[in-house]
Amino acid sequence: MTFRITYSVLDADMTALHAQFDEALAAVRRGLGGVFPSWIGGKAFESGDLLESRNPARPGELLARFHRTPVGEVDRVMRVAREAQRGWGATPWQERARILRKAADLISERRLSLSAIMALEVGKNRLESLGDVEESADLLRYYAGQLEEAQGFVKPLARLSPNEDTRSVLRPYGVFVVIAPFNFPLALAAGMSAGALLGGNAVVLKPSEEAPWCAEGLFHALRDAGLPDGVFQVVHGEGETLGAALVAHPGVDGVAFTGSKSVGYAIHGQLNATRIRPCFLELGGKNPAIVCKDADLEAAIEGCFRSAFGLSGQKCSALSRVYVHESLKQAFLAGLSEKARSARVGDPTEVPTFVGPVIQPASVARFEHAAAEARRDGVVHAGGERLRLAGALSDGYFVAPTVVEIAHGHRLMREELFLPFVGVTGFGALEEALTLANDCAYGLTAGIFSRKDADVAFFLEHAEAGVLYANRRTGATTGAWPGVQAFSGWKGSGSTGKGGCGPYYVAQFMREQSQTRM
Ligand code: NAD
Ligand code: ALA
Repeated sequence: MTFRITYSVLDADMTALHAQFDEALAAVRRGLGGVFPSWIGGKAFESGDLLESRNPARPGELLARFHRTPVGEVDRVMRVAREAQRGWGATPWQERARILRKAADLISERRLSLSAIMALEVGKNRLESLGDVEESADLLRYYAGQLEEAQGFVKPLARLSPNEDTRSVLRPYGVFVVIAPFNFPLALAAGMSAGALLGGNAVVLKPSEEAPWCAEGLFHALRDAGLPDGVFQVVHGEGETLGAALVAHPGVDGVAFTGSKSVGYAIHGQLNATRIRPCFLELGGKNPAIVCKDADLEAAIEGCFRSAFGLSGQKCSALSRVYVHESLKQAFLAGLSEKARSARVGDPTEVPTFVGPVIQPASVARFEHAAAEARRDGVVHAGGERLRLAGALSDGYFVAPTVVEIAHGHRLMREELFLPFVGVTGFGALEEALTLANDCAYGLTAGIFSRKDADVAFFLEHAEAGVLYANRRTGATTGAWPGVQAFSGWKGSGSTGKGGCGPYYVAQFMREQSQTRM
């Protein structure tokens, strides 16, 4: 499939880009305090019950408010979706692809304001926010390309007699509920929704309650691209109430969920308790990197630093465990700790900031608990404390990038923390390191650093994770891009073995029908 990557940050004039971002940020700031609806059947729905979106870097700053969709409205939302899906499912695949491609172009055109909103809403630094927006657009293009390449997923099959024609046709399921997390608030909402929409399904999107504003941008891009009313609805509310009610509704034909393992498992159990329905889960990670005796140490430190602390460690792909050869352990710990201490933590909208805030007070509490455990059971080489920054950021949810030396069996090396917090331990032989890396309930991403081809080959053959990287100084375990890496979680990290960004994504949202004509 021909697919051109449009990641504009890669070849942008950075001075001009930052000036444009500043302008967009100023415009977004002038509009703070707005009140936005849920979107039901193409119409603004206002319940009067408002969800607040606040800036995690300055929690006193109210960004916008959103009308929650009451649980009592879920039945109407599902009926509207069912009705709209009939027309959308019958729409020629070329037209579905055209609309999604148009929406991608609109997202690209609006990337500055969308990324400024994202930096304010979830604390993602400006380049990572721009990356998230561009990734959203590329996901839509890449998935539209899958439908086009497969010619709408209609395939002639063999014939038993000359007067018989059989074809396999992939057809929509009906109505998909899409539930998205806060950390890639546009890319994941857009990617999951696009897969379902291209497959001819209607979508009810429940964005994270931490990132409702980003979803507003997705709604407008799809609507302005010509998506018919009711095919894509956005409902706002908390997961335990609205999310659970959506999943429980009998009119749901499938769920696409990205988020934590515990919530994903609960949704899977609930959805399939009474009848079997597709449930695509993209879940958490506890991602390891192995630094071998023959590694380029500087590249390993750089790659591990970026993956452990980018987006404050709040990526499913974040690096949280490092197994380093004993001969390099002290030098690696010293180098990584030095970089962690000198990383600029601060306002994510400012150019030099690498690490922004974590998303909410509960994340700070989780951090402080983990740091206390690390002090008790291991050695804290860098970080380990909450940061109180000066001035307007003084109440922000900032924590120090943390490097801890700790034994493999410890809780901190097993459970996803979703924080800028990395555990390091030593190993002797590569086989041992792989055994430790694989000894985990998750299997999302993993990395290795070694100059020996045989080490890399051994790792690629034996690592139990869906996304593998070798010698990647730009990210030991992070940085997948649509059409470049397939992003599928193994073990507790996902349910399908075929993930977002990959070549088999759209087909999963359709069911096969064999049609024979005499
Ligand atoms: P979360 O599980 O807390 O919430 C995700 C979504 O689920 C939110 O919209 C939330 O409102 C909703 N939700 C919560 N409880 C629910 C319930 N009972 N029923 C229905 N919906 C419910 O996750 P989060 O904190 O937003 O995101 C972080 C998690 O997401 C991490 O575990 C991370 O690893 C994972 N993640 C995975 C991927 C991937 O591709 N594998 C990508 C990004 C994030
Ligand atoms: N695309 C994101 C990464 O790989 C999830 O880090």
